[in-house]
Amino acid sequence: MADLTRFANTLRNVRRLHWIVVEDWTFTNHNVHDLLHTSNISFTYIAQATRETSNASKGNDQKNSALEWINKNHRFGEPAVVYFADDDNTYDLRLFEEMRYTKKLSMWPVGFSGAMRLEKPIVKDGKVTNFSAWWSNHRVFAVDMAGFAINTNVLWDYYPMRFETIVPAKTCCMAETHFLEQCCTREDIEPKADNCTKVYVWHTKTVKPGLRVGQSKNEDIYV
Ligand SMILES: *[C@@H]1O[C@H](CO)[C@@H](O)[C@H](O)[C@H]1NC(C)=O
Repeated sequence: MADLTRFANTLRNVRRLHWIVVEDWTFTNHNVHDLLHTSNISFTYIAQATRETSNASKGNDQKNSALEWINKNHRFGEPAVVYFADDDNTYDLRLFEEMRYTKKLSMWPVGFSGAMRLEKPIVKDGKVTNFSAWWSNHRVFAVDMAGFAINTNVLWDYYPMRFETIVPAKTCCMAETHFLEQCCTREDIEPKADNCTKVYVWHTKTVKPGLRVGQSKNEDIYV
């Protein structure tokens, strides 16, 4: 709820946005539903439990559900862009304006990604030629989930675009590249954020607080 509240506060500032939230469970949750409703953001809230056979990285069944929802409900030809957003990342609002004009596939740097201070596409003469990233020699697209967006047209032109849910054990960080290899080559990449020189998203993590009981009292609030 803390992550979603903060993320809703970010998304509230983004124009023409539809937020698809997928609950990793058999049912949706009424607290989450209330939060989404109160946020005033246009949203869809669906439930998709991770299937027992799924051994891919977390969230792939849920992302596939969202993609299916888009394939079923998005009006064909209506211009739109899809972005997979973690609720605990930190977003500069300029990111959403950058991705809005994605023709096919766009990319940009991601801070604190994959144990590196910064992962980013390497841009030469306005074209992405390689990646400065963990395991970049093993991936066509060495990009984090937070580092790309696709135009919805791609979801029709290469239907069905889905994430792998069954992958060999010990296959690190391949979800993004395997997803994008279904539709795109490196030639297709549109570098955003001033030719990938700016950072507009950070891979931050919320940790569980070390709660201590019996310490709260009413305090004055200074803002
Ligand atoms: C990116 O680089 C290309 C080639 O050098 C240049 O033409 C273009 O204006 C640059 N784009 C931005 C947004 O700086």
